[in-house]
Amino acid sequence: MAKIGLFFGSSTGNTEYISYEMKAEFDKRDPSLVEVFNVGSSSPEQMMKYQYLVMGIPTWNTGQLQDDWEVFIPKMSGHDMTGKKVAIFGVGDQNGYGFNFLDAVGMLADEVMALGAELYGMWPVKGYEFNESLAQVEDHFLSVGIDQDGQADMTPKRIVAWVDQVLEEFKLK
Ligand SMILES: Cc1cc2nc3c(=O)[nH]c(=O)nc-3n(C[C@H](O)[C@H](O)[C@H](O)COP(=O)(O)O)c2cc1C
Repeated sequence: MAKIGLFFGSSTGNTEYISYEMKAEFDKRDPSLVEVFNVGSSSPEQMMKYQYLVMGIPTWNTGQLQDDWEVFIPKMSGHDMTGKKVAIFGVGDQNGYGFNFLDAVGMLADEVMALGAELYGMWPVKGYEFNESLAQVEDHFLSVGIDQDGQADMTPKRIVAWVDQVLEEFKLK
């Protein structure tokens, strides 16, 4: 079994695309490190097998969870995530939804922390332009922010740097 389970939900394919770009970056370090799952067709039991988790979530419908995550998250409750290390990547649109940028990240982060997991992969808010975000804590986000609508050109560099950071913080380097 791979060490890291990467679980994503995606309505129009952006988060799915980023998930496989992330996996390709992890694969450069070790091709057996990451296995990818769509939360729309997997179970919390599959997720709970992993000590190391990467979760990809877009924000939809002005500050709401993506549909598959909306179904999946309630099913996670009751599971004990103590000792698990979780890093989230959030996908959103800062220009179009500047008052709700990456909000779903904040909701997912609250849930995994309430279940006992430790959160890694925080990312500076510097370099983004938005008004409000439930993903923001002081000067950082609770996840890396990926914006395929407004800053797609910055995505490849963000992926490389974030994967490196997460491996370091997971102590898997
Ligand atoms: C109707 C609609 C509502 C959206 N609401 C938000 C939002 O509240 N916050 C945000 O950051 N992005 C929002 N977005 C942008 C999406 O998160 C973004 O396009 C993302 O890349 C979609 O990911 P997916 O293709 O994996 O579903 C919204 C997009 C649409 C079309």
